[in-house]
Amino acid sequence: MLENSNYRIGLITAKEAWSIRQPVLREGKPIEACIFDGDDFETTFHIGLFVDNTLIAVATFMKNSNSLFLEKKQFQLRGMAVLKEFQGKGYGNDILKFGESLLIKQGVKMIWCNARKIAVNFYQKNNYTIKGDSFIIPEIGIHYVMGKTL
Ligand SMILES: CC(C)(COP(=O)(O)OP(=O)(O)OC[C@H]1O[C@@H](n2cnc3c(N)ncnc32)[C@H](O)[C@@H]1OP(=O)(O)O)[C@@H](O)C(=O)NCCC(=O)NCCS
Repeated sequence: MLENSNYRIGLITAKEAWSIRQPVLREGKPIEACIFDGDDFETTFHIGLFVDNTLIAVATFMKNSNSLFLEKKQFQLRGMAVLKEFQGKGYGNDILKFGESLLIKQGVKMIWCNARKIAVNFYQKNNYTIKGDSFIIPEIGIHYVMGKTL
């Protein structure tokens, strides 16, 4: 847990993660649309960032391998979301770095994600690189697999 007077970052529940995924990643859709397979796995963890005790950003880290990468110990980053009014202030960076630091402690060697086209630049700034061709996730749009060696 990282903490100062108005800023806190640490583990949260899946339910808390859904509450931010919904307005940011599934706007107008029911909460059921925000639940991912694996959200409740023992190996999955959810990170949240609170400002003034209000949850404003979330990310989920799931043990899942992608055959595009050779590393044995891989995790997938999912549901990376910062509430609109808090975007562009460095909170996305902070949450990602915090999650990555926990993965490093677990000996995980590779983190990857299915990045929305609009988020590619954000991941590149965090040293993720594109692997392979773009693909379309129905109802959401163009994505790229992006990965980073830890
Ligand atoms: C993408 C997202 C998670 C980034 O979080 P954030 O808190 O807004 O990003 P940060 O302020 O930490 O930005 C970090 C860097 O990435 C860049 N960046 C962030 N979002 C960007 C975007 N959409 N387009 C271009 N660059 C972006 C910033 O300019 C910044 O670069 P800098 O350090 O050189 O200034 C957040 O904007 C978001 O939730 N967007 C909507 C949902 C989404 O697309 N999620 C990703 C799904 S794959």
